[in-house]
Amino acid sequence: MMSIFNDNDLVLLVGEGNFSFSAALSEQNLNVELVASCYESGVCQEAAEKNVNRLRKNGTCVLFNVDATKLEECPSLKLRLFDKIIFNFPHVGGKMRIERNRELLKGFFMSSARMIKENGQILVTLCNGQGGTPVDKPQRRWDDSWKIVEMAAHGNFILTRVDPFLWQSFEDYIVTGYRGLNKQFHTSGSLTHFFTKSQSPTAHNIAPKNKINAFTLNNITWKGMINSLQNKLDYELKCIYPCTFTFDLTVSTDEYFNTAEFYQLLYNYAGSIIENVDLIDCYSSPDDKKIKRTYRIDYKSNYIPLYRKRVIELHQNVIANFVEDNFKVVVSR
Ligand SMILES: C[S@@+](CC[C@H](N)C(=O)[O-])C[C@H]1O[C@@H](n2cnc3c(N)ncnc32)[C@H](O)[C@@H]1O
Repeated sequence: MMSIFNDNDLVLLVGEGNFSFSAALSEQNLNVELVASCYESGVCQEAAEKNVNRLRKNGTCVLFNVDATKLEECPSLKLRLFDKIIFNFPHVGGKMRIERNRELLKGFFMSSARMIKENGQILVTLCNGQGGTPVDKPQRRWDDSWKIVEMAAHGNFILTRVDPFLWQSFEDYIVTGYRGLNKQFHTSGSLTHFFTKSQSPTAHNIAPKNKINAFTLNNITWKGMINSLQNKLDYELKCIYPCTFTFDLTVSTDEYFNTAEFYQLLYNYAGSIIENVDLIDCYSSPDDKKIKRTYRIDYKSNYIPLYRKRVIELHQNVIANFVEDNFKVVVSR
């Protein structure tokens, strides 16, 4: 786990609670510069005070009153860019606060985006089951999780790695409950999620580099079309466990409508964010004699971070406009 650090890394630790993790890390003889911070305005327990003193003695900068969702507002931080930002067991406190914990993650990722170097990494450790990826054992329903991959997408981060939380083996690290309530909690099965910066969607990056020519295919399906593609991998950075968002698009078409052409143009325009397209309904409307076709589009990307609101915007504006502009169709809105 120590191998994640490179020489001279500048590492920011946020939400440190009792600073026992920072203190243990600072004694690992790593050739890195640590900045340790917590949300509270000070520490009240003796053990925490000792940790702060240990850190300061080692020359580590210790900061109080640092809100992980507003890092750029902290005068001591705002002019610096970090190689790693680490948040272990983020929690807003209290029970059953899933929505507020998601908001905490979202705010943290959005703020971190302004504080991290181009190739930097964000590390977030969560209890087993919270993150919502298949690495959780057992995996919780996505809706019942903190949706960490989606929250990270708000800061344009993608998940690149998930490791078992190894730092609990640090002898002096005592994971605390919220606000230093000297209460330990269950950390077995905890997972550290690694995130790397990626890009928000643009006309350029939603279009795959390898274009497809499917005009000639009969009985085309989206999956069949993709399988006919060679060299599908466009990008080096790869999100593991990307989220899928599904929305329907209903178009009014003339009788003659070439599905192969539709799929091909859609793929060449936005294939990097589309996982699948299926025709799920098709009927002739008695009112205007038009054919109504409803396509179900699964949006998913290994490279472009997607979150629900972003996908709705892409679906309703970018994709719908593209379809209207390129086919003689009207999209139902
Ligand atoms: C479960 S404790 C974990 C503490 C410590 N990271 C550890 O591993 O022992 C959750 C921590 O999240 C912190 N926290 C909650 N909201 C925060 C925010 N907006 N910014 C920074 N820290 C926050 C709390 O102060 C608390 O210390």
